[in-house]
Amino acid sequence: MQHQHNMEKTINETKQGELLVVKEKTGNKRKLFIESYGCAMNFSDSEIVASIMSDQGYNTTQNLEEADLVLVNTCSIRDKAEQTVRKRLQKYNAVKRDHNPKMKVGVLGCMAERLKTKFLEEEKIVDLVVGPDAYKDLPNLLAEVEEGKDAINVILSKDETYGDISPVRLNTNGVSAFVSITRGCDNMCTFCVVPFTRGRERSRAPQSIIEEVNNLWQQGYKDITLLGQNVDSYLWYGGGLKKDFEKATDMQKATSVNFSKLLEICAKEQPKMRIRFSTSNPQDLTMDVIKTMANYKNICNHIHLPVQSGSNRILKAMNRLHTREEYFELIDNIREIIPNCTISQDMIVGFPTETEQDFQDTVSLMKYVKYNFGYMYKYSERPGTLAGRHMQDDVPEATKKRRLQDIVDLQRLHSEIRTKSWLGKTVEVLIEKQSKKSDKEWSGRTAESIVCVFPKGQYKIGDFVNVKVTDCTSATLKGEAITLSDNN
Ligand code: SAH
Ligand code: F3S
Repeated sequence: MQHQHNMEKTINETKQGELLVVKEKTGNKRKLFIESYGCAMNFSDSEIVASIMSDQGYNTTQNLEEADLVLVNTCSIRDKAEQTVRKRLQKYNAVKRDHNPKMKVGVLGCMAERLKTKFLEEEKIVDLVVGPDAYKDLPNLLAEVEEGKDAINVILSKDETYGDISPVRLNTNGVSAFVSITRGCDNMCTFCVVPFTRGRERSRAPQSIIEEVNNLWQQGYKDITLLGQNVDSYLWYGGGLKKDFEKATDMQKATSVNFSKLLEICAKEQPKMRIRFSTSNPQDLTMDVIKTMANYKNICNHIHLPVQSGSNRILKAMNRLHTREEYFELIDNIREIIPNCTISQDMIVGFPTETEQDFQDTVSLMKYVKYNFGYMYKYSERPGTLAGRHMQDDVPEATKKRRLQDIVDLQRLHSEIRTKSWLGKTVEVLIEKQSKKSDKEWSGRTAESIVCVFPKGQYKIGDFVNVKVTDCTSATLKGEAITLSDNN
């Protein structure tokens, strides 16, 4: 396995109270400016790309004006996300024109996959278009660009998981990291572009996941998030697509590893490493996973459990394969087995045909669950999706806007109630960074994913600290450190 080259860009200094110093690979002469938009998977993918590029002689830079190559990892999930990327391209254009004529520009990720050659036609600044499964082809594509040609590879793969590449950790705090475990999505929610841009679902080999986890632990990391569009659907049976599992041999089926098993393997392998995961689709989250979470202290008690709508009619139109009643049952089970588990949501308002009654069903679902936090969006029609092709985007913008504001306000209320319930309690916080508001305070998260800030004292980044909660805002706990926790 290639587990050497990520050590070349590693943390070599973790002095108390200072930001971690990152050492660059010394032989590399060329400069890569890479930035990411969208989901955690994109940020994780960019670390894989940085690793591939470091073998090609590129070190990263934060300065556009000195970059030989600019790569932007893009998001297509909503129209606004795409507009943000288009604006960035204009910025690159200006920098290239005024300061850096040698600069080449590549587009990676979901917009690359969605727009393909259109990108080269519509955006003159773009030299290179690379879809999410084609990053290993970057060296070949760059060679073409260097010959003055445009280059493109947007082929989706049945088995690419980048399991053999050790990511170069970008913008790292040296404490928390993403570990990707599945790629693609087979769910075909009717509003969602991801199945088209990231292809069919496939899982990464458990051995390579464990190696990465062990490697992170050795480098001082203490908190990992297992990543996938739909992590609970993880299934390793020797490689291949999730949908082809039925065709696997009896032997492959008997030795297969599902998500609850993978969680258990990770939790046992590094019993002091905090383990998180995201995202869970309610239809795939099993009782086994909930029980495994309860069985291992180091699996964090937080589930991101997007529901999108509280209306059975809308859930069906979205092709979400569960009802509101089944969702409530799941919530009840989580709360029974893991009483202090935090639960967060994603919600969409204004899906085609959504009536006031449908919306009120969403409101009442939220009131039932009282989520700890959530991410809420107005429906944005995506070309090529089932809803995009067959349903009219018929909820007026003003109605979408009002409904969004209503649930954002409601969520804030619920967050406040949930956050206040920690007052007076002692929580274990892993220090991740300096607080944005004060250089005298640390910021970290509890195992339940609640942000907590407190005066620095004698503690340092990477310490697990017991903190007494004395105050809070709607989203953040404030407290005083009592002592190092016994997890150190
Ligand atoms: N399973 C994925 C979901 C990715 S999209 C995950 O790992 O999180 C993240 C969220 O964006 C979705 O849960 C949904 O709430 C929102 N979203 C997706 N498509 C959308 C669209 N067309 N319009 C508005 N919001 C959308
Ligand atoms: Fe999208 Fe639904 Fe998959 S939201 S990423 S199609 S679970």
